[in-house]
Parts: sequence; structure tokens; C-alpha cells
Amino acid sequence: MAAQIIDGKQIAQQIRSDLARQIQERIEQGKPRPGLAVVLVGDNPASQLYVKMKQKACLEVGIHSEEHRLPASISQGRLLGLIDQLNSDPRIHGILVQLPLPDGLDEEEVIMRIRPEKDVDGFHPINVGRLAIGADTYVPCTPAGVMKMLDWINYDPAGKKAVVVGRSNIVGKPVAQLLLKRNATVTICHSHTKDLMDECRQADILVAAVGRPQMIKADWVKPGAAVIDVGINKIGKKTVGDVDFDNVKEVAGWITPVPGGVGPMTIAMLLANTVRAAG
Ligand code: GUN
Repeated sequence: MAAQIIDGKQIAQQIRSDLARQIQERIEQGKPRPGLAVVLVGDNPASQLYVKMKQKACLEVGIHSEEHRLPASISQGRLLGLIDQLNSDPRIHGILVQLPLPDGLDEEEVIMRIRPEKDVDGFHPINVGRLAIGADTYVPCTPAGVMKMLDWINYDPAGKKAVVVGRSNIVGKPVAQLLLKRNATVTICHSHTKDLMDECRQADILVAAVGRPQMIKADWVKPGAAVIDVGINKIGKKTVGDVDFDNVKEVAGWITPVPGGVGPMTIAMLLANTVRAAG
């Protein structure tokens, strides 16, 4: 039987309308409008597109958003200066520095400069540490979106075997932490993993976050598994995930499409984190 498609666009739309209502209520209560600053350095076309989508989503739900576009030639000092300015701006509750930064800039130092209370991406080591100990914190947006999708299909990870393919700080590691917190048995796979296919085949929950187009094939997937595809890759003009969707959907129990799966959830979670940051 073909898999149930998890429609990220639809789930995200519901989250966005709930947030829009919450923001409206806040304003009626005299509370400040949540504000997000998005910092974009350089001219990476994918980053430009993501930032545009984030800005549009903010506008739609009533979040004040401002974009700070800087040339790739900006110095580390000037960039840190902007972060300092945003850290002390009372209209700004959340700061997002779009990654990756161009060569020559120290990403780690920039992220560490963001006040942890304004770190709506959940990338600051303080927030990463809080997530690791299972404390309440800003959860990185894509991993948070993945968990919302599992909740949406009423999938309880407890006691299940979860395999995460990819170990990035943005997706692989935090999604593994979240699955662990929900009592899954979690394996993180990466480029040095032996028998990746065998590992994937054991997964009740398979999260693909490697950035390799259609790498996960139907015979890598356990029948009935929940397959969450975080990949966004281009083949010519077509956008595809890390999962060979057309074939895997015949084996999996649930599957997320690309586009229209995890991507819209990432944006919805950013909006939710920003509203939370506004207090
Ligand atoms: N680059 C790719 N994904 C993300 C994300 O979630 N946040 C930021 N800031 N940069 C990214």
C-alpha cells in the first residue's frame, strides 16, 4: 500500500494561522509586536530565496521583520557590530543569521555573539547545551518541524528505532536529541558509516538530512516506516529531496514530499520561536 503523504504545507498553514491569531491577541493586550531581524551576508542564491520566504511569512502573520543585507566583503568586526546593535534593539526579539556565511567569516563567533534569548535558530552553544540536557529551549527550526510532523500523524517515537542520516549542527544532531528525548533508540549515520543501507533498513523513523539528491532508495526502507526528507536539492530546475520519493512512497508508511514537506515547517517553527522570544 502506498504511503500516507505528510503535507507540510497544510500543517504549516495551520500553525501560521494559530500564530497570527496569537499575535493579534498580543497586540490587543498592548504587548509589543514580535520582531525578527534576518541577517543575510553575500549573495548565495539559495540563502536569498530562504530569507525572502522567511520575510514573507513574517509579514503574513504580523511579525515585524527587517532584513540586513551585507556584502560578502564585510569584516568580521562590522558583522559583530551589527549583532551587538540588534542584541540591544528592543523592537527585535529574534535574530537569525542565515548560514552558511561566506568564506573568511567566523560563523561560530557570530552565532556566539547573539544573545541566547534572541537566538530563535537555537544555534547558540547555550541553547544547544540546553537541548542536550533536555531543558526547555529554542529548538532549531527544521528539527522542531520534523517533530511536529510526527506529532501530526500521531506517531509516538517511544521505543521505536530512529535513524538520522546526516550529522549537521543544524539538523542531524538536534533532531537526534529530540528523538532521544521522546524515547526513541537513535542512530546517527554519516559519511563514515559502514553499511548505511542496512542501518536505514532497520529504521521505524528515517530522517534523511544529507543533501544528496534521491540517495535513499526503496530497498533501504523498512516497510511501513515514517520517512522524513529534509533534503532540498536541485536536479536541473527540479527540486528533489534526499529520498527517492516516487519509489520509496510504495514501501513507507508515511513520507514527506519535497517541496511541500519539511521546508514550510521550518519557516513555521521560526515564526513560533520568534513569538516565544517576544515573551
Ligand atoms: N541555513 C540552512 N538552514 C538554516 C536555518 O535553519 N537557519 C539559518 N540561520 N541558516 C540556515
